[in-house]
This record gives sequence, C-alpha cells and structure tokens, in this order.
Amino acid sequence: MSQQQTLLLTGSTGTIGKLLIQQLHSTKQEAHLKLKLLVRNVEKAKELFDALQSDSFQLEYIQGDLPINDKSVNTELLFDKVEKIFILAPDVPQKVNLEKSIVEKALQYTKASNGQLKQVVKLSALGVSRDRETNNLLRWHADSEYEIFQALNHYNEVNSDNTVSHVFIRPGMFMQNILGGYEHYYLMNHNMIVRPDLNTRHSYTTSFVDVRDLVKIISLVLLETDVTKYGDKTFTITGPSTTTNQEFVEIVSKVLKRDIHYEKVSEFTFMNMLKEMQIPNDYIWMLIKLYQTGKENGAASIIYEDFENITGTSPTTFEQFLLDHLSYFNQ
Ligand SMILES: NC(=O)c1ccc[n+]([C@@H]2O[C@H](COP(=O)([O-])OP(=O)(O)OC[C@H]3O[C@@H](n4cnc5c(N)ncnc54)[C@H](OP(=O)(O)O)[C@@H]3O)[C@@H](O)[C@H]2O)c1
Repeated sequence: MSQQQTLLLTGSTGTIGKLLIQQLHSTKQEAHLKLKLLVRNVEKAKELFDALQSDSFQLEYIQGDLPINDKSVNTELLFDKVEKIFILAPDVPQKVNLEKSIVEKALQYTKASNGQLKQVVKLSALGVSRDRETNNLLRWHADSEYEIFQALNHYNEVNSDNTVSHVFIRPGMFMQNILGGYEHYYLMNHNMIVRPDLNTRHSYTTSFVDVRDLVKIISLVLLETDVTKYGDKTFTITGPSTTTNQEFVEIVSKVLKRDIHYEKVSEFTFMNMLKEMQIPNDYIWMLIKLYQTGKENGAASIIYEDFENITGTSPTTFEQFLLDHLSYFNQ
C-alpha cells in the first residue's frame, strides 16, 4: 500500500469546502488520503461527505470551531500526523485571531511531538492590503497573512531542520455568489441585480472566478508531496475576463433568457436593502467596503494568469458557469 497523506481542513461545509472535498476525492492519485475535518456540526458534515469514504479516502470529523483553544478541542486528535493545514475562516472582524490560533496551536504541537507539519495553506482574497480600513475584508485577510507569515518565520528560524512553508491563495470575487444570498434573492424575486455603484468616475470592471477552478488549485497544492514546489508562494486566481456591472447583467439576461435589469443604487440604499434581509451589520459594512475598493483602485479588474500557468487550462467563463448552474434559476 502507498503511503498515506494526512491533511487538516477547516471550513469544509461551506461553498469552497464542499467543492474542495469533491475535488480531492476525484483527483487521481497514488497516495491514500486521510482528511481531518474541523467542523462545528458533525452530523451536517457526515451527511455531506460520508458517501465518499473508502479505504483510500478516509475522513475523520473533529467537532470544534475557531479560534482553537486547548479546552474546546483535543489538539492531539486534531494535529497528529497532519502534514498540511488548509485554513478558511468566516468573514468576521475577528478573522485574524481565528486563523492565527490554529497555526500557533499546530506549531506548538508539531514542535512538542516532532510532528509532521510541513505546510499551511491559507485561503485569502485578491487585493488584500494592510492599508485598508479595519472593517474591510481585504484588511482582515492581509493582517492574517502577515500574522501567519510571522509565526512561520519565527518557527522556522529555530527549527531549521523541520521548516513549515506557507501558501496564500488569493481568489477574486466568486461566480457562485449569484447562486445564493441577496444577489440571488433580488434576481429571482425582482428580476434585478443590485450593486452600490453611484458616484463613480467610471464604470469599473470586475473579474469573477468559478470556485470549481479555485478548488483545482487548492487541491493541487494540498496533494503535492514536494512542499518546495508551491511552498512560500502566493497565487492569485481570477476568471478569464472582466466585466462592468452592466455587462455582467447582460450576460445573466442572455444565458438565463430573462429580462434582468441592473439596479445602480447608492451605498445608503444598498445598506437598507440588506438590513431588510436581516443581514448582520458587520457583514453589510464589509460588503460596502469591498465594493468601494472595487470602485477606487480597480484591483478586481486585473486578470491574473496563475490558474492557466499552473493547470495549463483556461479558467471557466461566466457564461459556462451559468449554463452549468441553470437549475439554481428555475422559477
Ligand atoms: N465570496 C467571494 O466572492 C470571495 C472572494 C474571495 C475570497 N473569499 C473568501 O472565501 C472565504 C469564504 O469561503 P466560503 O464561501 O466557502 O464560505 P462559506 O460558504 O460561508 O463557509 C464558511 C465555512 O466556515 C465554517 N465556519 C464558520 N464559522 C466558523 C468558526 N467560528 N469556526 C470554524 N468554522 C467556521 C462554516 O461552517 P458551518 O457549516 O458550520 O457554518 C463553513 O464551513 C472567506 O475567507 C472569504 O473572504 C470569498
């Protein structure tokens, strides 16, 4: 039997996590894989993934949440034999602490037990910066990248025989956002797509990425046993093209064969529309800041070719994505 690889995944019951586990399962490989899943709800995770289990694809569910602390989670159960950790935490102001906690605990464990940890892979976001406002998701990710980088550097300085590398994966906005939440609600109930887009000097453009492409990259990185291949690198993953909001809506109308219109609103109106949907205040502010960043510096307008450079294939177009998800728009 070939050697077993053990990975620890967080966020596995969400949009990325569910597709990532499918991708890891379907990727042909010689090595046997064991995934430890840190989940808040074991029953939910079992329902999603138990059918995939086999001798060569083992799943272990560990009940717990972020931040990690010694009392709430058995750290031996969590980190024993783990070679790589995939970190994905929710978009909350405490994000940096949630993510830092698991890295610090993993390093403590691996040092104390001569552990196997070789790499930390963090899901980040395109355009992260430590200069952003403190209620901006791009600031939370940047602070977290910085803290993880620092923690690993300190660890590696004194453990030069057993170093742990980082990989930061920075995707653009997800095509999947249109399949749920406020975007899907207004599309289905009011035939419109709403964006805070007044007072801009120009029609800014955005590139959207299919999470199915994103998980191909994450899976390649996680399954790569030569940790130097992707180690200590950052990858930015975007779709193949950019669109203005108006062009985005035209594509949706054309593919869904429906008359969808683009509703440009002020940030104030946008905020009140989301409040009516009972979306938490912190999350609304975070979204507004994200759209402001898009308007301001065009970071989301750039096409990066990291996906093609790594996989040798083109990323999925928005049209193809919609065609593959038509069932989400049945009325
Ligand atoms: N959406 C975009 O356009 C976009 C673009 C770039 C980057 N991103 C980044 O993508 C990430 C979100 O990924 P996603 O869409 O897959 O998220 P998601 O669907 O909201 O899933 C979040 C996952 O995190 C788990 N979780 C929530 N709170 C937790 C806690 N306190 N401790 C442990 N686990 C917790 C959830 O578990 P439960 O199932 O128990 O709730 C779920 O598995 C964020 O970092 C975001 O910044 C998003």
